Amino acid sequence: MTAHAPPSPAPPIGVLVELTHRCPLGCPYCSNPVSLERPAAELGTQTWTRIFTEAAALGALHVHLSGGEPTARRDIAEIVRGAAQAGLYTNLITSGVGLSEKRWSAIVEAGLDHAQLSFQGADQATNDRLAHYDSAWERKRAFAAMVTNAGLPLTINAVISRGNLHQVGAFIDLAVELGARRLEVAHTQYYGWALANRAALMPPRKEVEESIALVEGARTRLKGRLVIDMVIPDYYARYPKPCAGGWGRMAINVSPSGKALPCHAAESIPGLEFWNVRERSLAEIWRDNPAFQAFRGTDWMQEPCRSCERREIDWGGCRCQALALVGAAAATDPACHKSPHHARIAATAAAEAEADASAIRWRSYKDKVEA
Ligand code: SF4
Ligand code: FES
Repeated sequence: MTAHAPPSPAPPIGVLVELTHRCPLGCPYCSNPVSLERPAAELGTQTWTRIFTEAAALGALHVHLSGGEPTARRDIAEIVRGAAQAGLYTNLITSGVGLSEKRWSAIVEAGLDHAQLSFQGADQATNDRLAHYDSAWERKRAFAAMVTNAGLPLTINAVISRGNLHQVGAFIDLAVELGARRLEVAHTQYYGWALANRAALMPPRKEVEESIALVEGARTRLKGRLVIDMVIPDYYARYPKPCAGGWGRMAINVSPSGKALPCHAAESIPGLEFWNVRERSLAEIWRDNPAFQAFRGTDWMQEPCRSCERREIDWGGCRCQALALVGAAAATDPACHKSPHHARIAATAAAEAEADASAIRWRSYKDKVEA
């Protein structure tokens, strides 16, 4: 098969909009950049509404309303309305700690289709410690009830690290108890804050393997009742994940200030210029921005990806992880066992899984806002 980059890319399936970087929680695995954008730089309601119309015209089917914490925006109901009126399937990704019944009703009335609620632990003490927020547990449970009472489908997102890996079974029970239709057991991916805290978050391989077996058993037991997705830690995988579904292939992220990105960590790659939705249409960015073309398709690949039979399955893995761990964004993701660096990162993971877990650096909005 001849390697090629498509001259005219197929449309993205979805758009993930980071409405704000503000967030009341302090999760140590936060995937937002370590330098956060200021509230004054955030796009206004009308601009977001225009972006949703452009996304639908481009061919996108759904929008994920994310952050930070998207409900920190006072205009969240209007933003949902704009997305729904554009014809997009709307998914709110939230910590669930900041919404009153009244604001939630306005969001539902505006046309929300689905809610995805994060839990940091499967009991109060673990949850509130990892969320770095007292009373998060009770608030999240109350929000889950608001979602199901409104008749909306609920997904529980459980981000797993060493501090809560022993609770995978309890997360499954929690999702059933709360009436969720889907549970994502998502092992931490090491970018941003999570990379800074890797030594404190990395779980031991044996316990990861036990959690995978536990999920497999629960999938069978709960078939037809609860769908369970699982993302395993990259460092223990044989093959990498097709990050973002392949660079510039499935999705567009838009930052709070309007920078269009092929993935949430793309700005960590030097030398790429990301166009802003304030100045260009989404269609123009998707088609013409050199940053979107940089790793689109397979032409950019080096060996071993270039001649690998999986190159159009995982698209070489994650560019941002290759840069962070190997120093070259075009290198094979070292999560892949074919990477010459794989053994080194697996050894790092094993060593860090034994490291002191007490030295956690909590995400802090105040300390890390861009000047
Ligand atoms: Fe994927 Fe590249 Fe590894 Fe092949 S060599 S499995 S394309 S990351
Ligand atoms: Fe950027 Fe994976 S996070 S390509």
